[in-house]
Amino acid sequence: MPTPDLDAVVAAGRRAIADAADLDALREAEQAHLARRSPLGEVQRSLGGLDEQARRDLGRRVNQARTTLQAELAARRAELEAERDQALLEAERVDVTLPGRVPPRGAVHPVTRTTDEIVDIFIGLGYRVVEGPEVETDWYNFQALNIAPDHPARSMQDTLYIESGDGRAGELVLRTHTSPVQIRAMQEHGAPLYVIAPGRVYRSDSDATHTPMFHQVEGFMVDSDISFGHLKGVLTHFLQRIFRNDLAVRFRPSFFPFTEPSAEIDIQCVICNGSGKAAEGRGCRVCKASGWLEILGAGMIDPQVFKFVGYDPEQISGFAFGMGVERIAMLKYGIDDIRL
Ligand code: DAH
Repeated sequence: MPTPDLDAVVAAGRRAIADAADLDALREAEQAHLARRSPLGEVQRSLGGLDEQARRDLGRRVNQARTTLQAELAARRAELEAERDQALLEAERVDVTLPGRVPPRGAVHPVTRTTDEIVDIFIGLGYRVVEGPEVETDWYNFQALNIAPDHPARSMQDTLYIESGDGRAGELVLRTHTSPVQIRAMQEHGAPLYVIAPGRVYRSDSDATHTPMFHQVEGFMVDSDISFGHLKGVLTHFLQRIFRNDLAVRFRPSFFPFTEPSAEIDIQCVICNGSGKAAEGRGCRVCKASGWLEILGAGMIDPQVFKFVGYDPEQISGFAFGMGVERIAMLKYGIDDIRL
């Protein structure tokens, strides 16, 4: 087999190296043109059959050829590696100037927000916040509030009774209102005492305007010489702060077992502005065309309640009130179904 021409071997090798389009192709070119079994390797092997002078000449040229090809190979490899790195950078490019993904922000629940607003108004009047247990005894929830054992408010239809440890039902209830906090607060502190008591209450009731759990805010003010005038002034102030400054308010005689006299307080309907009318000559659905909305129960604390907590009704007088937070929130935010 004739020995390949060295110049042609080098030329073919350089072309293959220059033509290699990527690092894999370059490795193949190296294998084909620089390995032992390449044409160059063959020329090198042929040296053994030459005389000394010819072997020395050709040997030098073979070494030169190998050095040349290796230099070209290294240069091309550097080029291809740079190209590969550049392509990777391009593919993994991150635009740090893009705005981040902002997670959706939470918001305070309308009931919590309304509770806070109510409480804040009374804090501004010098009231202190007191909380009581949601599982309450029959005595605090009913008896100490002058609610007799046969009073309809205790009936199984409203009240969620709790079995006590010994399996007896009837001693413990989920409180049906926040009024028992009046009793607990008065037992703990002497008069004068101005308290606002927000919290969850429970009744066995469920429809578009009632949920089994809802929220009330109770409040009361006991001191010497508290009159119905204080009740009217404080509650009018409160209602005008929570709804609007020129809101019309009316006080109707009513009955609660723990207050005497008692009142229910109505506000001018905040949906129809007291007109009783809706669009197209229809009646306002929220106030049932009356122009008024019942919003608070209140009254002068019954002397009997003072006796239960050890206050002297000859020395101390006071008023109390209670309201539903969901109802106020629904009116403020225009929500017509409590379940929303
Ligand atoms: N506890 C009453 C209820 O849940 C609301 C209430 C009425 C509270 C009159 C009071 C009050 O403090 O004086 O319906």
